[in-house]
Amino acid sequence: MRSRAQLRIALAKGRLWEEAIARFSRAGMAPVSDKGRRLLVPSEDPGLEFLEVKPGDVPIYVESGAADLGVTGTDVLREGNPDVLEPLELDFGRCRLVVAAPAAAPYPSLPGGITPRLATKYPRLARAHFAALGRAVEIIEVGGSVEVAPLLGLSHWIVDLVDTGDTLRANGLVEHETILEVSAVLIANRASQKLKLDRHLDVMRRLEGTAVNGER
Ligand code: PRP
Repeated sequence: MRSRAQLRIALAKGRLWEEAIARFSRAGMAPVSDKGRRLLVPSEDPGLEFLEVKPGDVPIYVESGAADLGVTGTDVLREGNPDVLEPLELDFGRCRLVVAAPAAAPYPSLPGGITPRLATKYPRLARAHFAALGRAVEIIEVGGSVEVAPLLGLSHWIVDLVDTGDTLRANGLVEHETILEVSAVLIANRASQKLKLDRHLDVMRRLEGTAVNGER
């Protein structure tokens, strides 16, 4: 059942959570500080509330209308290709989706014509990238800690997000190709944006205001 808040905004736990909360807070929409373990989190703005979900689930909630808006990464969006609007690119969460391999390993082909096995959380993007290049790969889908896969012989290469590069270096991997430049974006449910256009525009203007004022 809908609570009294007019807009529900799905936010991804993890990498994007702190920066998303900081942006909404600077725009006068901070979540209550004593949220505890609640997953539906009231805001200081009584017209909206936040929903805390796993990053990969943000588009599902927004596409279905269970949430009106959401903040997620373009990695998740391009992988799942949900039917949502993307009205605002946000100035945080920048990283890139890359192909990486062990530092000493041959690249881009393996000896003896072996088809490379590639571990990733992004099977669709990885498959599309290599299909476009006409290079055969076998995709192994994993849920996280992808960098360990080549160390244990599960895969030859990986496709994963890189920010500082620390995780790649710590696991003896080097970057070879960039598949996607990633950033956080605001996404919107199509019907909700039509029905509650004023509220959507208000949230967008306030978020944009925090960026143009140089308060990033
Ligand atoms: C992400 C990504 C890399 C790491 C990259 O993992 O999958 O593992 O961050 O960051 P770095 O280049 O700054 O080291 P995340 O923490 O989201 O967890 P995950 O392993 O569950 O994907």
